[in-house]
Amino acid sequence: MTSAQHRPVGPRYEGWLTGIDSICYGGDYNPEQWPEEVWEQDVTLMREAGVNLVSIGIFSWALLEPREGEFDFAWLDRLIELLHANGIHIDLATPTASPPAWFFHAYPQARVVTREGTVLGFGSRGMASPSSPDYRAAALRITEALGDRYGSHPALALWHVHNEYGAPVSEDYSPTSAAAFRDWLRARYTTLDGLNAAWGTRFWGQVYGEWEHVGVPAATPSVANPAQRLDFARFTNDSLLACFTAERDALHARSQAPVTTNFMAAECPSTDLFAWGREVDVVSNDHYLTAADPRCEVGLALAADLTRSVAGGKPWMLLEHSPSGVNWQPRNVAKRPGEMARSAFSHVGRGADAVMFFQWRASRSGAEKFHGAMLPHAGTSSRVWREIVALGADLAAASELVGSRVSADVALLWDQESLWAQGLEWRPSVDVDARERINTFYDRFWRDGVQVDFAHPSQDLSGYKLVVAPASYLLTAESAANLTRFVEGGGTLLVSFFSGIVNEFDAVHEGGFLAPLRDALGVTVEEFLPLRAGETLQVALDDAGVAPGLTGTLTASVWADDLTLAGASVVGTYLDGPAPGAPAITRNTHGSGTGWYLSTQLDVDALATVLAPVYADAGLTPSGLPEELEVIRRSGAAADYVVAINHGSSPLSVESSAALGTPAAGATDLITGAEVDADVKVEAGGVRVLRVPRAIS
Ligand code: GLA
Repeated sequence: MTSAQHRPVGPRYEGWLTGIDSICYGGDYNPEQWPEEVWEQDVTLMREAGVNLVSIGIFSWALLEPREGEFDFAWLDRLIELLHANGIHIDLATPTASPPAWFFHAYPQARVVTREGTVLGFGSRGMASPSSPDYRAAALRITEALGDRYGSHPALALWHVHNEYGAPVSEDYSPTSAAAFRDWLRARYTTLDGLNAAWGTRFWGQVYGEWEHVGVPAATPSVANPAQRLDFARFTNDSLLACFTAERDALHARSQAPVTTNFMAAECPSTDLFAWGREVDVVSNDHYLTAADPRCEVGLALAADLTRSVAGGKPWMLLEHSPSGVNWQPRNVAKRPGEMARSAFSHVGRGADAVMFFQWRASRSGAEKFHGAMLPHAGTSSRVWREIVALGADLAAASELVGSRVSADVALLWDQESLWAQGLEWRPSVDVDARERINTFYDRFWRDGVQVDFAHPSQDLSGYKLVVAPASYLLTAESAANLTRFVEGGGTLLVSFFSGIVNEFDAVHEGGFLAPLRDALGVTVEEFLPLRAGETLQVALDDAGVAPGLTGTLTASVWADDLTLAGASVVGTYLDGPAPGAPAITRNTHGSGTGWYLSTQLDVDALATVLAPVYADAGLTPSGLPEELEVIRRSGAAADYVVAINHGSSPLSVESSAALGTPAAGATDLITGAEVDADVKVEAGGVRVLRVPRAIS
């Protein structure tokens, strides 16, 4: 495969929002829930808070098209003029995430059917079947009408197509969807023989003789065909994406403004974001903290780094997060003082050029009345409002970060198709969880202060020093060859267990487990040796003359492999468990690079031990900063920027030159405007944003 065959990453569009050259600040604005006299107060307060962009019309279809084909834009005209007169730009939505009651009444066949056969009704939100021709026609009609009316409006900075594709429903098991799935399969396999081979239908007597007999993988007596389910996940993604591109194209035909749709990076299992990233003009993301996670800042950072990676490193937009608690988690923990700024600046540090909230003014009615808002029910005398105003000022002060980029030497592999496939039933152990592995590896890098990107295994990886495969269960032969070339070219590859197992049809690779990575890793897997619930085992480390410093014993869990060596050195050996004395961790040299294999599950502390010689192989150095101090660097045309966030409860210093490039002399605190000392203190819970002159970095 030449580099030209690598899967491209990120939007093709080179521009940014029309008319805004500072960090975008604002949120979802749903004024149709309020009398118009409240709108005047809203815009006055928006100006006080420094709001320069609002997302409008997201759930307004029923008001904009009260009866099929009859439009009423009068209220939206008044709203947009009011915002424009006050210098506030609009991110104008197509309202297609929530079709009106008349639509479902007229087109009942467009309703989504669950896997168990339940027909979903009206009275909440959620789109109709993405495969429904009636839905697609209605969505296009309202999109074209909005494009015609507002496509050239000077307040328009961005189009916001739909809302969070894939949520709250994605897969549809209706007859409408089944017909579309058959068309999709015909296009993919051409013949029934091709489909039967790809799905392995000779197993359990599932061979198809007629296209009409092929259906969606609805509830079955025993486990459904995994290749069919994997294709259904692909089909669902493609159907949602086709809905997006149809609306996008209609808007492009009518308007110069860029088009986005808000992703839920790391949280929406039905969309293959690397594919979506190529189709939007600007990548944007919604992120909500997981209140039950005491270190939810790590999950936030992961989502932000994934979003930036999907954007191919280009600036991206945080299109929604919450000013305080949400309303849909079991226990909706309110953000504590300062947490709003820490969250916002972590996104900014990781490449966001927009900080937007859900939502501007708290709803009095409906399902989200207990959700945090920029203007909460308590009004302007609240702590949340004071922090909103302060954050607006701080972001304005940090505006020169706009357009600067984050770069990383480490790539963590992320392949949604592999996550879909691994998530199906009847895998060797229920304790193996791909997201757990990704999260744990990510956490290790976060604690080490090592900036990472996420990468698709088929993309060009040559810019990275270290590539990590925490969970690459499905790995195509082409992607495995790409990883092997990465090692040959001098890269360091670290592969964790249960990777390189199946191809794109969820069929085990010829040659056995891990066979496609045999050359890179110098090892294959003869048999899986999963552990019983709660069982642990010990791994004795040995530098074997190739991994300096790798000594001692580690405790591991969940999994072991029975490995067959094919050239690799053994640097960790099982002391007990199912295969005492067998290799557990290996290191291989191949071409000019190195391939590590980790056949068991290590926790975040144990990973630190193994990563030390891996970092050495890759020529990487951890930041050496305290774990609670998050330090991120963005590089601009003339200067670098350092965002430092103290998640701890006592002051910390960014004293290390690894973080700042050099001692901080000559740096400026963008929020206070002050020159900074060599020893940069960050107060407990505080945030600092520094400009570091390029000459000394
Ligand atoms: C999602 C939706 C919003 C709102 C928020 C609440 O992100 O896009 O409309 O429901 O969740 O957290």
